[in-house]
Amino acid sequence: MIEAPNKRSAQIDVFVGQPGGMLKALHALQSQSEANFLSPADIKLVASKFGVPVAKVWGTVTFYSLFATTPRGRHIIRVCENAPCHVVGASDILAALEQHLKIRAGGTTTDGLFTLEATSCLGVCGVAPAIMIDSTVYGNLTKEQLPALLAEYRQEAQA
Ligand code: FES
Repeated sequence: MIEAPNKRSAQIDVFVGQPGGMLKALHALQSQSEANFLSPADIKLVASKFGVPVAKVWGTVTFYSLFATTPRGRHIIRVCENAPCHVVGASDILAALEQHLKIRAGGTTTDGLFTLEATSCLGVCGVAPAIMIDSTVYGNLTKEQLPALLAEYRQEAQA
């Protein structure tokens, strides 16, 4: 279901005038999007609300890897590929996720539940190898833990 434009607009009014308000507004709009992305209408809305050119908002959105401009899955799985995670098995974790989800990194499952992304450091190197699902970190992960972890999210989606 697509939300009415005035509802989307009201969601970000609170951020106008706040330090970092534009980023907060973009994050709010993306997190409220069923397909986990920022549409051209969202970009124009933010530009209008914050009184900045559309190109500036596009520049911001494309700079930060946490924002997307194309539809994604309901849950975003990010697998760190930097050296500290790589040396303790991140590539095995990524390969196992690709196998379980039947997609390659960058892809979205056919049911729209998961998007899998390979990314740089998640800032939790002390618990390498690490992944994030949405904003939750899973560290010291083994590929054997993945089926149960994915099952939790699938069960939640069916509830
Ligand atoms: S290198 Fe993987 S979380 Fe920092």
